[in-house]
Amino acid sequence: MKNQTIIITGGAGFIGSNLAFYFQENYPDYHIIIFDKFRDNLTFPSGNPTSLGHFKNLIGFRGEIITGDINNPSDIAKLKTIDFDVMYHMAAISDTTVMDQKLVMQTNHLAFLDLLNICLEKNAKMIYASSAGTYGNTSAPNKIGSGENPENIYGFSKLMMDISTRKILCKNPQLPIIGLRFFNVYGEREFYKGKTASMVLQLGLQALKEKKVKLFEFGEQKRDFVYIKDVIDACILSSKATKGGIYNVGSGHARSFNDIINALKSHLGDFEVEYIKNPYTFFQTHTEADLSGIKADLGYKPRFELEDGIASYIPEIKARFEECK
Ligand SMILES: NC(=O)c1ccc[n+]([C@@H]2O[C@H](COP(=O)([O-])OP(=O)(O)OC[C@H]3O[C@@H](n4cnc5c(N)ncnc54)[C@H](O)[C@@H]3O)[C@@H](O)[C@H]2O)c1
Repeated sequence: MKNQTIIITGGAGFIGSNLAFYFQENYPDYHIIIFDKFRDNLTFPSGNPTSLGHFKNLIGFRGEIITGDINNPSDIAKLKTIDFDVMYHMAAISDTTVMDQKLVMQTNHLAFLDLLNICLEKNAKMIYASSAGTYGNTSAPNKIGSGENPENIYGFSKLMMDISTRKILCKNPQLPIIGLRFFNVYGEREFYKGKTASMVLQLGLQALKEKKVKLFEFGEQKRDFVYIKDVIDACILSSKATKGGIYNVGSGHARSFNDIINALKSHLGDFEVEYIKNPYTFFQTHTEADLSGIKADLGYKPRFELEDGIASYIPEIKARFEECK
C-alpha cells in the first residue's frame, strides 16, 4: 500500500490518540495529522470539561497537529488544503450526560456532515465513530437497523450521523463511508476522560485508592465492554473496506459490572463493594453487539474477552494510580 496521509479528528482523545500511535508504530512512513481542539478551561454544568483532549495522550507523537474546532468553518477549511487518503473522525462531545441538545447536534451531527463533504470532494475514506448509544435500552443483542431508539441527545446525534450516511450509501453503496458503533470501550489513554472514563478504569482506581468501590444496585446490569486494541483492529480493517457500511464494534458478549469487579479482584486482591441507588433516569441495562455484519464484511474478530482486556490493562491502571497518589 502506498504511503498514506491520515487525518484523525479528536486525535488528542482516548481512541484517536491510540489510533495515532498505532499508525506511527506500524506504518512509520504514513503522514499522520491530528485535528483536535484540546481542552480549555470551560466545563459543562456537570463539572466535566467541555472537551476531553489532552496533550499528555500525545507525548511521543511525531506527526502533525492542527489545533482547531470542527464547529469552526475557518478551522476545518485548513483540512481542504490537505491531500489526504483517510479521515478517522473521532472528535465529538463524547460525554453522554451533556444536555445541551443544540451544541451536541451541532458538534456531533452537523460538523460531521461538513467533514464528510470534504472527504467526498477528495475521494477520501471517512471512517467515523458512531455509538451503541444509538440503541438506547432496546433489547440485546443489538443489531444494525433495528431497535435504534436512543434515550439521550448523544445517542440521537450519533444515530443522525448514521441516518445521513445511510441516505448517501443508499444511492451509492460503494462510497467509502464507514460508521463504527463502538460499545463500551476501555483501555490505555482514557485516563484524561476523568468521570467519563470507562468503569474498568474508575473501579480499578477506586479499588487501589480506597480498598472499596461503589456500584449501582446490584451490579448485574450488562454491557458489551470492548478493549481498545479490538477497537483499533476494527478501525484498521475499515480502512481496507471496499464498500460503505455501518457496523457494531464490541466484544460480542454482554458482561456485568460484577464481572469487572471479579476480574479486578484477581489482579488487585480483595476489596469491598458498596451497592448504591442509581441516580440516572437513563441507564443502559443490557447491551451486546451483534457482530455478524463486521465479521462478514471486514473480517473483524475480537481478540479480548473482558478478563483478557483487564489483564492487559492492569499495569497502566496501577501506573496511573501511582501518578495521582
Ligand atoms: N470511548 C467509548 O466508550 C466510546 C463509545 C462509543 C462511541 N465513542 C465515540 O468515539 C469517539 C472517540 O471517543 P473517545 O472515548 O476517544 O472520546 P474523547 O472525548 O476522549 O475524544 C474526543 C476528542 O474530540 C475532541 N473534540 C471534542 N470536541 C471537539 C471540537 N468541537 N473540535 C475538535 N475536537 C473536538 C476532544 O478534545 C477529544 O480529544 C467519539 O466520537 C465518541 O463519541 C466512544
